[in-house]
Amino acid sequence: MPLPPPAPDSTCLITGASSGIGSEIARHLARRGHGVTLVARREERLRELADELGQAHAVRAEVVGASVADHDARAELAAEIERRGLTVETLVNNAGYGSAGRFQDLDPDGEEGMVRLNVEAVVGFCGIYASRMVDRGRGVILNVASTAAFQPLPYQATYAASKSFISSFSEALYVDLAGTGVTVTVLYPGPTRTEFDEESGMGSFDQLPSFLVDDPGDVARAAVEGIEAGRRSVVPGAHNVISALGGRFAPRSVLLPALGRLYPFGR
Ligand SMILES: NC(=O)c1ccc[n+]([C@@H]2O[C@H](COP(=O)([O-])OP(=O)(O)OC[C@H]3O[C@@H](n4cnc5c(N)ncnc54)[C@H](OP(=O)(O)O)[C@@H]3O)[C@@H](O)[C@H]2O)c1
Repeated sequence: MPLPPPAPDSTCLITGASSGIGSEIARHLARRGHGVTLVARREERLRELADELGQAHAVRAEVVGASVADHDARAELAAEIERRGLTVETLVNNAGYGSAGRFQDLDPDGEEGMVRLNVEAVVGFCGIYASRMVDRGRGVILNVASTAAFQPLPYQATYAASKSFISSFSEALYVDLAGTGVTVTVLYPGPTRTEFDEESGMGSFDQLPSFLVDDPGDVARAAVEGIEAGRRSVVPGAHNVISALGGRFAPRSVLLPALGRLYPFGR
C-alpha cells in the first residue's frame, strides 16, 4: 500500500481544505484514521471541519490559516507543522482557482496570482516534501489538476495552462520517484459542485446537464482510492474520461472554436 499507515505523529497536509474537493478529501482520509493538517485562508471554516473530523473519527486534525500562494508562507507553514511534532506523509496540493473571460479583459494580477497558487505552490510544496519522503522511503503526493489540462481552453487560457502544467509535472514526477517508495497521483476532476464555478466567474454549473456535474465527495473518494492504489492518474467518471479523450485527440482547429462556443463570451 503506497499510503503510509496512520500514526499519531504523521499527518496529511491538505491545501484548500476550507471547501469543496479539499474538505471532502480530508473527510475521506480522516475516515480511514489519518490525521490531517487543514490549510486555507478561511481559518474559521477549517476549525469547524477539524472539530467535525476529530469528533467523528478520533484523529488529530490541525488547522493552519495561510495563503499558500506565497513562498515565505509555505516555508513558515512547513516549519509550523514541524513545531507541532508532525511529519507530512501525505501531501495534497488541492488549493486553486480559475477565471473566465477574454484574457485581455481579465485582471492581470488575478491571472498572475492564479499561476502562483495553481502552479508555483504545487512545485514549492513538492520541493519541500518530496526529498524528505524519499529519505523516509515512503510518502504520497496528490496534485489536483482538471480535465481543463487536456487541451487549451479559450476564455480560460491561464487556468487551463496552469492545470496542463500540473498534469505534465506530476506525471513526470511519478517516474522520477519510481522505486523510492513515494508515489505521485494527479487528479483530473471535471465540473464539480463546489464554490469553484461562482468564484471563477464562469457562472453556475447548474446550467449544465446534471449528469455532467460531479459531487465533490465522489471525486474525493476516487482520488483517495487512487492514492491508496498508487495510481499515476485518476479521471473520475466515464463522462470525464470521454472529455479527456476528446481534449487529447480531437484536432485543435475543430475543438477550440467548438469549446469557445460553450462560453457566453464566445457566442
Ligand atoms: N469544482 C470544479 O469544477 C473543479 C474542476 C476541476 C478541477 N478543480 C480543482 O479542484 C481544486 C479544488 O477546487 P474546488 O472545486 O474544491 O473549489 P473551491 O470550493 O473554490 O475550493 C478552493 C479551495 O482553495 C482554497 N484557496 C484558494 N486560494 C487559496 C490560497 N491563496 N491559499 C490557500 N488556499 C486557497 C480555498 O480556501 P480559502 O478561500 O479559505 O483560502 C478553498 O478551500 C482546485 O485546484 C480546482 O482548480 C475543480
